Amino acid sequence: MRNKLIAGNWKMHGSLKEAAALIASLKAGAGKVRAELAVFPPYVFLHATAEALAGSSIALGAQDCAAHEEAQGAHTGDVSAMMLRNLGCAYVILGHSERRSFHGETDETVRRKAEIALAQGLTPIICVGETLNERQAGQAEAVVTGQVRACLPQENGGFCLAYEPVWAIGSGLTPSAEEVEAMHACIRRIADVRVLYGGSVKPENAAELLSLPGVGGALVGGASLKAEAFLAIAAAA
Ligand code: PGA
Repeated sequence: MRNKLIAGNWKMHGSLKEAAALIASLKAGAGKVRAELAVFPPYVFLHATAEALAGSSIALGAQDCAAHEEAQGAHTGDVSAMMLRNLGCAYVILGHSERRSFHGETDETVRRKAEIALAQGLTPIICVGETLNERQAGQAEAVVTGQVRACLPQENGGFCLAYEPVWAIGSGLTPSAEEVEAMHACIRRIADVRVLYGGSVKPENAAELLSLPGVGGALVGGASLKAEAFLAIAAAA
């Protein structure tokens, strides 16, 4: 069976010094876990993190990329997939619910970014997930499958999906094991790729979530900022 991918989304956290300390601790512990590890620092820490990760098995990724076809151009504030690739990134998170809600990203934007990222040799991790209202209204599967269909790049593979219920992100709440398993099965009927679970993954719930059929790994936010917690999640995989 393929090893699980444990992806740490640092979001807009930390300083260069904290990033260096976190990477040093992760490198020291990475050899003891079977899972694949990847970290997703803010753009400004990518270069230093890439240098710190040299020679280790931990992969690097970015939290977003530009939606423009050109690898460079007049796009103030944007960072292209090619630039990320040149920095040593292997992955890029796309369509995280925070990008969707704070930056108005649509499924169409996410799909375009995924195609651009794939063309540059990055592995996109495309995020989908329902809100609490949608779950309570019994629409979770319809919403998520709609997002998956609309975000899917034309390529058949080379990307991952991440099921992240919006209400589970940073809240300490998670869906039940049955709900996670059912949703992953539903997603994998549309795209038979690695599907990560994300939303309040921590050392205490990692073993259960990661043992569910169809769960190919975890996308971890808060708990990825502490080496001990992140490595404990990876060890549970
Ligand atoms: P969380 O975040 O682990 O802090 O809930 C997950 C995510 O947003 O990817």
